[in-house]
Amino acid sequence: NVVFLQKLRNDRNLEIKYLRNLIDSLNICLIALRNPCMGRLTSCLVKNLEKGKLVMRTESFSSRHVLQALPKLPVPNLKDTLDRYLSCMKHLLTEEQFNKTQNIVTQFGAPGGVGELLQSKLTDRSENMANWVYDYWLNDMYLNNRLALPVNSSPAMVFPQQNFKAPIDSLRFAAHLISGVLEYKTHLDDRNLPADYARGQLAGTRLCMEQYYRLFTSYRLPGPERDTLVAQESSVMPEPEHIIVACKNQFFVLDVMINFRQLNQRDLLTQLEKIVKMADNEEEQLPPIGLLTSDGRTEWAESRSVLMRESTNRDSLDMIERCLCLVCLDDASGPELSDTTRAMLMLHGGGLTKNGGNRWYDKPMQFIVGADGCCGVVCEHSAFEGIVLVQCTEYLLKCMIGSPSKLVRAASVSELPAPRRLRWKCTPEIHKLITSAADKLQRMVKNLDMNVHKFHDYGKEFIKKQKMSPDAYIQVALQLGFYRCHGRPVSTYESASLRRFQQGRVDNIRSATPEAFAFVKAMTEGKNSTSVEKMELLKGAITAQTSYTRLAITGMAIDNHLLGLRELAHEMKMGKLEMFKDEAYLISNQFILSTSQVPTTVEMFCCYGPVVPNGYGACYNPQSDHIIFSVSSFHNSQQTCSAEFVKCLVQGLRDIRDLCNKCNADCAATEERKGQTQEPKKEVRLLLANRP
Ligand code: COA
Repeated sequence: NVVFLQKLRNDRNLEIKYLRNLIDSLNICLIALRNPCMGRLTSCLVKNLEKGKLVMRTESFSSRHVLQALPKLPVPNLKDTLDRYLSCMKHLLTEEQFNKTQNIVTQFGAPGGVGELLQSKLTDRSENMANWVYDYWLNDMYLNNRLALPVNSSPAMVFPQQNFKAPIDSLRFAAHLISGVLEYKTHLDDRNLPADYARGQLAGTRLCMEQYYRLFTSYRLPGPERDTLVAQESSVMPEPEHIIVACKNQFFVLDVMINFRQLNQRDLLTQLEKIVKMADNEEEQLPPIGLLTSDGRTEWAESRSVLMRESTNRDSLDMIERCLCLVCLDDASGPELSDTTRAMLMLHGGGLTKNGGNRWYDKPMQFIVGADGCCGVVCEHSAFEGIVLVQCTEYLLKCMIGSPSKLVRAASVSELPAPRRLRWKCTPEIHKLITSAADKLQRMVKNLDMNVHKFHDYGKEFIKKQKMSPDAYIQVALQLGFYRCHGRPVSTYESASLRRFQQGRVDNIRSATPEAFAFVKAMTEGKNSTSVEKMELLKGAITAQTSYTRLAITGMAIDNHLLGLRELAHEMKMGKLEMFKDEAYLISNQFILSTSQVPTTVEMFCCYGPVVPNGYGACYNPQSDHIIFSVSSFHNSQQTCSAEFVKCLVQGLRDIRDLCNKCNADCAATEERKGQTQEPKKEVRLLLANRP
């Protein structure tokens, strides 16, 4: 090893990568190096320490580097969860449904009953695992889901519209983006990304960083019943990395390291130009294989096994599965490029007639660079949450924004081997499968009812001035908008980050609280309620929402807990328990309103599809003086209409603002009156004091 290391010395990055992988692959690490790279190995050593491996430290690796491991996700108390479940559901059920559910829940939670047994097993599980819910949650939320990834699962970030004056501009943009990815990947490889700390509610806590390390190293492999999230194994001697570039539905391997040298932006531009030329060669065109990845997961798993029969296809699949990410060079999509159209194009590519085949949905990161300036990133969601995606994307955009001079001007002159086109051997069976996938994607394209709305009346600063949590306020407004639109409250999902804990992902804030219901009823039906009464109800709704948020981010929400109990019962072969067969449990998991806050500090926004056929996806990005809403639903549902929902939401936001302003004005007037009535008293006091 020592001899080998000396050989690597002239490439510091390679040396670090080698050392890191070496340490990872050993069972016991005896680090006795006096190596200048030691600082850059810190987090790798910490990770191994946390895994319980013995690490002998050198002077350059001091104890200050050893961070305290994050706490484990707690298991909430059974009774608390069951009580909370009933209170979350009562107003969403009929009286008859609720009475039935109450009996089932009481029986489940009875002393010595099945609930207690499962709870004690769950506690054991939590003691033996870093995160007791992680696998259950990942399977339930993503890997078991058989629906196609575009729209149903993969969210997208939509970049600001780019103004490409000539075709080469989009390639320059792509080259710049790739070079940012490579820079970011170096930080990831060195494990030296600065740790994130929580902001907003319960600010200041250190957050789990694991999701970042999956950005460019994982792959969602389709399976007949369940997909697998594959993490790339770190090998002692890593292979040179590559990116897959999609252009005109063709896939090309772009090696980013050639002859031990990482390509610079000029090189990248040269290679991208070659790819565009190769893609234009009509004689070489291969069928749009990428469409298969937009199919239902079981269908794609079947098509993949058909593809795998040919060694050419196996090699091509292997290259895609091991790439860092995809860069999709899209053709222009049409004249109208509103925020809404751009969001739709990000989510589904516009189907076969546009760029729907220019994708590979299993890969976590697909950067889209449209010739018409429609750019963004589409993500396979099982590996990480939107917040991590935003952090990475902002890093990349910040490298690029405001620095046109930094954009590469001329292509490299160095002789680089041409990128390789991935070959596919397509039997008639595969052609049929592609046609079937294309038809389904086309239906999805037609069905998506998207509405991106920039609400400019006010933003989170106004809300903070009311001494209210902006997130809670927006959630209450969403409840009001929904009620106004549909006349009933529904199970609502709001993602709450669990990154305060080891391997933390998310749990659910059930925003359709009874308090929010009371408020929305007063606002829509309570003609006789006074502003003061409405204001009291608003404050109650905000307080309830804020408390639920705090519960959720500290691991005390109910959804993951109930899921854990359910999955344990399944593992213990208890059959389907009444508790989880109950209609109320099914209703509780039908998230007709699926919401998420995805804030950004760079101009861009996130969007995703609904999670049920008759529901809405509602993503929001609160800024100081405006809020961006991306609302989605399906045209074929008789019950939903994104434009109508947005209209009601906007009216709700205005009504709440007016209510706050009226109550503030009334308060100020009362204060003033109080002041005026007190004035004479002061005068009287003065007169009395001046009396001889
Ligand atoms: N008065 C004045 N200001 C207040 C306030 C009050 N009563 N309550 C909160 N604020 C301030 C906060 O201090 C914070 O200030 P900052 O902008 O300076 O940091 C700001 O308002 C925002 O706080 P809040 O609106 O309460 O929300 P939050 O930032 O705590 O976010 C969640 C709440 C649930 C969204 C967040 O905890 C979370 O989990 N985010 C992850 C969501 C996610 O995973 N999304 C992606 C899914 S793919």
